[in-house]
Amino acid sequence: MKIISTVDELKNYLKGVDGSIGFVPTMGALHDGHLSLIKKAKEQNSFVVVSIFVNPTQFLAGEDLDQYPRKDEADKKICQLAGVDVVFFPTPDEIYSVDEVSLQAPHIRGYVLEGMTRPGHFSGVLTVVNKLLNIVNPTRAYFGKKDAQQLNLITLMVKQLFMDVEIVPVDTVRESDGLALSSRNVYLTKEQRAEALKISSSLYEASKMVSQGILDVSKIKEEMLKILEGLEIGYVEILNRNFEVIKEVEVTQSIVLVEVLIGETRLLDNIWL
Ligand code: PAF
Repeated sequence: MKIISTVDELKNYLKGVDGSIGFVPTMGALHDGHLSLIKKAKEQNSFVVVSIFVNPTQFLAGEDLDQYPRKDEADKKICQLAGVDVVFFPTPDEIYSVDEVSLQAPHIRGYVLEGMTRPGHFSGVLTVVNKLLNIVNPTRAYFGKKDAQQLNLITLMVKQLFMDVEIVPVDTVRESDGLALSSRNVYLTKEQRAEALKISSSLYEASKMVSQGILDVSKIKEEMLKILEGLEIGYVEILNRNFEVIKEVEVTQSIVLVEVLIGETRLLDNIWL
């Protein structure tokens, strides 16, 4: 496995690669969720690149940029064991310069849900993903369904900017008790982690109701809110796959999304129905 930290070196190295390139962008602190992205990338491509870059522009002032878990050595080992071909490990100065051309998240879809509580976050995500895709020029890039709004906006960016890459969504990986894997789970105390299980329980309840034929969005939300009682809720929404408001769940076309704040930790989860 090769570890590369400059854009020029990576671009030159990738010129010599034959066949398809699968790309997994990450912010490190790798867990089984990332491993499932890497596994899928390996299944579908002859060569796999993983980037590890804690992107400063997607953190708002006062957020956890400085505290964000960094596990560089462990991450490199995980990538090696997972059979990654290249890890791209740039510094912020390698990716950003002064007086940047900027990419804005769309004014509606980028500023609802997580974009409402974190205005500007998705502009930072799209900017860095655009840069990384331009650097790696992959055949396919892999993103978790857990960050459903991010996945939706990246898919939109690739379409609207006529970019030549296939965006591959990958299912959320959960602990055996239902908690969705996230690098931010390390912030949770034992008690907070137990409270966080209400999130997946509320999503399972939504799924159960839909399987019983209850499709009314406000009824489902009402039951979910009962389960989430006691938590600070960012949002509980049931939308179609284009992130538009619906009154009734359309089976195979809908998504239920939850964001809660536990202590200082913002947790997101969703279920695709
Ligand atoms: O999902 C993430 O880890 C990040 O938002 C991403 C896509 C790597 C961009 O920094």
